[in-house]
Amino acid sequence: MSDLAALVLAAGLSRRMRSPLSKILHPVAGRPLLHYPVAAARAAGARRVIVITSPKDRDTVEQYLVQAFGRELIQMAVQDPPRGTGDAARVGLDVLDAGVERALILCGDIPLIAAGDLQGLVETLGSGPGLVVGTCRLSQPDGYGRIVRNERGDAIAIREQRDLDSDRDRAINEINAGLYAVSVAELRGALGGLSTNNAQGEYYLTDIVPAFARAGGVRTYAMSADAIVGVNDRSQLCSVEEQMFRRIAERHRLAGSSIAPGVCIDDAVVLGNDVRISSNVHLRGNTAIGDGCVIDVGSVIENATLGPGARLLPYTVVSDSQIGAGCQLGPFSHARPGSVLEADVKLGNFVETKATRMRRGSKANHLSYLGDGDVGENTNIGAGTIFCNYDGYSKHKTTIGRDVFVGSDSQIIAPVSIGDGAYVATGSCVTEDVPAQALAIGRVRQSNKPGYASGLRARLEAAKKSKAAKPKDHK
Ligand code: UD1
Ligand code: CA
Repeated sequence: MSDLAALVLAAGLSRRMRSPLSKILHPVAGRPLLHYPVAAARAAGARRVIVITSPKDRDTVEQYLVQAFGRELIQMAVQDPPRGTGDAARVGLDVLDAGVERALILCGDIPLIAAGDLQGLVETLGSGPGLVVGTCRLSQPDGYGRIVRNERGDAIAIREQRDLDSDRDRAINEINAGLYAVSVAELRGALGGLSTNNAQGEYYLTDIVPAFARAGGVRTYAMSADAIVGVNDRSQLCSVEEQMFRRIAERHRLAGSSIAPGVCIDDAVVLGNDVRISSNVHLRGNTAIGDGCVIDVGSVIENATLGPGARLLPYTVVSDSQIGAGCQLGPFSHARPGSVLEADVKLGNFVETKATRMRRGSKANHLSYLGDGDVGENTNIGAGTIFCNYDGYSKHKTTIGRDVFVGSDSQIIAPVSIGDGAYVATGSCVTEDVPAQALAIGRVRQSNKPGYASGLRARLEAAKKSKAAKPKDHK
């Protein structure tokens, strides 16, 4: 199939989105909408994908697609102004390499299209001349162009919704999916004959059909309604993304992971074997989950890696971080950007880490903030410990060795370091380096006053009574 190219039409104004962002750049399962039709075209055998955009979107689209698919595949063309789908296809043909004989044409706003559907179109075209139009029968055909057939059943025209002029036309429920496979030489000729004589004053790509019909070369290829849904407004965007998340979850289930309903996994996320994910979990961006991980209710993981056997208890949030094998986080842990947890680390409830390395087997089980730190192997951070890393201007580092015990409710004022095997007494404010194996106590010494409490109560009670007895002074 080396002679196959694809034209992806993506230069429309997308007015119905009511958005400053073009619809093809709106995210669907973590990728711009346009990613999916381009991926499907490539998987269907297109050697080149020519993407036609507005001048405004050109650079953004090119940058994304080249990074996602490589410079070999992607070729850009600009349509300015948008004068209709026929004009957009002509602009695309202008940059097509000579010698390419067959083209797929697809709209950039149909993210659910699968490679198999496009292959069906290409196979129907075969190596001969002609045009294949993707079609679908819909009970609600409103908004789509309709396939007009003659008495022999041959497709002879496509009539746009706004150009329907008879009840007979309006009753047609066979629609144009906006997907075509076509011989390039004939397409050039047919596009040359288009006019703007229609309700929208545009060059309609669909108006190439009569010329192909006269040459005896129009075939149709029936497609499933799911695959061809176009995104024209935010309501369709929402339902398409819902469908995409459902597909992605199903793909992972069939590959051997247990995924509860209502889990949102972005398209780029990689799962190992036998992962278990409970409901309302979101896995976003470039995230990779290792074999046998368990991710419990409500956790949100973005651009992170989880090593094999890691467990996230409910409502854990991890972003731009690496979580090692066998770690356990949560419930309610928060690993912020730059957290590196080596194997078998534990973070408990309301523990927040940021730009901190927790070495193998270290633990912070309750209520702590650990920012800009390096915590050694098997060190235990007690409840309520704070790494005071920020002075209002700069961030400073806390370095703690291995096998250290930091008592609860300690403040570690960075920059500071605590040597291997040291103890920090509970409630300490650590402002100076602690040598290895030392005990640091940084708190006010306790003094007890025997019998003091009963005297204190008597005084307080008397004071309260005398206040109640005084007449209220009215001002
Ligand atoms: C189009 C078809 C219609 C079909 C439907 C399927 C035409 C005239 N109509 O209608 O028969 O049923 O798709 O979804 O082709 N675009 C450009 N430049 C332009 C105009 C549009 O690149 O000047 C792009 C858009 O960005 C979009 C695609 O072409 O990705 C389709 O345009 P849209 O306005 O959505 O066409 P529909 O009204 O949906
Ligand atoms: Ca559309």
